[in-house]
Amino acid sequence: MRQAPPAWHPGRMDTTAWPLFGLRLHCRDVTLRLVRESDLARLAAIVPDDWEDNPHSERFAGLDAAQNRLRLRYQDYWRALGTWSPASWQLPMAVEYSGALVGVQQLEAENFPVLRTVDSGSWLIREVRGRGVGVAMRMAVLGLAFDHLAALAAVTSADLDNGASLGVSRRIGYTDNGTGLVDSGHGPLELQYLRLTAAQWQAAGHSREVTVTGLDPCRPWFGLAP
Ligand SMILES: CC(C)(COP(=O)(O)OP(=O)(O)OC[C@H]1O[C@@H](n2cnc3c(N)ncnc32)[C@H](O)[C@@H]1OP(=O)(O)O)[C@@H](O)C(=O)NCCC(=O)NCCS
Repeated sequence: MRQAPPAWHPGRMDTTAWPLFGLRLHCRDVTLRLVRESDLARLAAIVPDDWEDNPHSERFAGLDAAQNRLRLRYQDYWRALGTWSPASWQLPMAVEYSGALVGVQQLEAENFPVLRTVDSGSWLIREVRGRGVGVAMRMAVLGLAFDHLAALAAVTSADLDNGASLGVSRRIGYTDNGTGLVDSGHGPLELQYLRLTAAQWQAAGHSREVTVTGLDPCRPWFGLAP
């Protein structure tokens, strides 16, 4: 006899098919969860003008700069989930602070099973900057990486004049790892590279500040045994 299909419950399907939607990271007064498609219009409305898109992303002729920027907010999200592989992934986490959506903290990795190294990028609305939210949201994803995904190192980079981004990294304990030139799309741009090892993370005692829930069903997404 054929079995009846499982009952469909609105809102439950997400976590059944994509358990990443049930992942929660908490650090200090911020909570992070996966960005949902229903967040995209809101995120596009609040993204600050100092958050720079990848200068090498394709711009569609016939769309002005603002329209291309809006289009990219959606397409970058779909690409992140649509191309997910345990070897190579981008985890865009929505940042909630005082009950409001205030930014995005991304964690990403290339060839993670071999390199066990994560990179990150983030933005916050201006109204909540300078209160430690940037540090808390970066710590949240680093807690996931170092304490649950067996990452060995985290790397990041920032413009030499991006004091807030460099301030977040240095506050957490990243150490400078050289500078280098990249093609900004308008000529060469000098970046500061930084690196934080698992040993540095643990020595700083950050682990106890981060709580991760909902990870078990996500383990295969990161190439880990269930
Ligand atoms: C980067 C960003 C997320 C940081 O968030 P934030 O809430 O402003 O940062 P915090 O309040 O947690 O501050 C982190 C540290 O940087 C320092 N800092 C903040 N702004 C600074 C500035 N303009 N110059 C120097 N230091 C600065 C803070 O004093 C703090 O260090 P401390 O704890 O040692 O005092 C936020 O500023 C932002 O969205 N910037 C625009 C987008 C961007 O540049 N993203 C990074 C590129 S991937």
